[in-house]
Amino acid sequence: MSVTFRQLTTSFGAEVSGVDIAVGVSDADISRIVALFNAYSVLVFRGQPMTDAQQIRFSQRFAELGDFPGLEKTVVQNPGAGTPIAVLSNLDQHGAIILPTDERMVFNSGNEMWHTDSSFKRVPATASMLSGRDVPPSGGDTQFASQRAAYVDLDEELKRRIADYVAIHDFAYSRSLIDPSVMTEEQKRETPPVPQAVVRANPVNGRKNIYTGAHASHIRGLPLEEGRALIGRLTRFSVQAAYTHTHQWQPQDFVIWDNRCCLHRGRPWDKATSARVMHRTTVTGIGPTAE
Ligand code: OGA
Ligand code: MN
Repeated sequence: MSVTFRQLTTSFGAEVSGVDIAVGVSDADISRIVALFNAYSVLVFRGQPMTDAQQIRFSQRFAELGDFPGLEKTVVQNPGAGTPIAVLSNLDQHGAIILPTDERMVFNSGNEMWHTDSSFKRVPATASMLSGRDVPPSGGDTQFASQRAAYVDLDEELKRRIADYVAIHDFAYSRSLIDPSVMTEEQKRETPPVPQAVVRANPVNGRKNIYTGAHASHIRGLPLEEGRALIGRLTRFSVQAAYTHTHQWQPQDFVIWDNRCCLHRGRPWDKATSARVMHRTTVTGIGPTAE
């Protein structure tokens, strides 16, 4: 087998064939996949049944995995806490559906806002890798927006203005958009606000992108509301149809995306009747994006 791909949109996204992740991927194929990742940002692999151990092994070929057991358990409410797997599921430990009104589901509905993973951590995620273990018959899509494609079309004056801006990303802020009481004071202390560059560049190809999303609260040095309005403007600009791709899940799909330059969001489905179980590994970044 050899790695082949077809583009999903004119500017980003690729469906990759010719690898069997469960069996294992050669060094040469990993290099090709990493190159595609840097070039296309979102990679879709169809028909990849895998165990957690196989998913972890593949993910570790990219770089070190994020593992924040304390935080994930109390703040992110991840049933996979303490392991490198984040479980996004509406099933409880007995396999019964958790009602959409349950606190855990309300909390996780934050994933339905355009965001980039872990931007509220000092070193944000580079890649997220999501394995569709049980997918609903309809709905529950994941949408991606290329903030790199959007950046190209941003007007030059705005590019100059935001070039050195630093945004403050705060998990308590994004969760307060769902419900101001969804996080306790103790949980908020676990995720203090962090600075992130508003414009980033890919270290391999130098291509620049906007870096915002739901966790971005305001901009350092600007009045709060002015910064918040600018973040909203940049995010809305990025998620226009021309820069987005919708992934409709089939069972055993495996999708990996570049959090450094893409936003994503989950879409709703009939949560009261259909199971949706996704297992995610998260590859950490190489350092803070701003001081
Ligand atoms: C994630 C995420 C959205 C989805 O795994 O980080 O935001 O569609 N997922 O499950
Ligand atoms: Mn996410």
